[in-house]
Amino acid sequence: MKIELLETFLTGHPVIDAEHRNIVDSINDVSEAILAGEYDRCPKLLDNFLQICTDHFHSEEKLLADLGYPGLTDHSAFHKELILKAKSVKVLCMDRTRPDSIQRCFDEMATLLIEDVVKGDLQFVSFLVEKGEVEQRIHIHTPT
Ligand SMILES: [Fe+2]
Ligand SMILES: [Fe+2]
Repeated sequence: MKIELLETFLTGHPVIDAEHRNIVDSINDVSEAILAGEYDRCPKLLDNFLQICTDHFHSEEKLLADLGYPGLTDHSAFHKELILKAKSVKVLCMDRTRPDSIQRCFDEMATLLIEDVVKGDLQFVSFLVEKGEVEQRIHIHTPT
């Protein structure tokens, strides 16, 4: 499973988008190791992935706090929840008595973190536009 950061998922904020790219890249590193059956590499790669996510959440929350984003408390709680879930999935992934479960665990964790990148953050894009932090992008949906 290779995850790609699609155009639609970009927030338009250069720092946030760059960090989201790093998250996606590090997820893909873990995915490659799993596919190659190189499970010994996974703990380190998973730690790296979690660190990148934690750092990103901090910088995103700082940016939103500085701008006075009204939904910050909820969004921070959402970040915390994602990290907790990802950590518990990581523990499961490292259970060497059940190597068959590693792919499923990984998929679950990747999905959780992508929830932030894909859905969660789109909630504050209009706020960033309002604050002049990012440029308005035109989304045209033409139902046919
Ligand atoms: Fe984010
Ligand atoms: Fe976020």
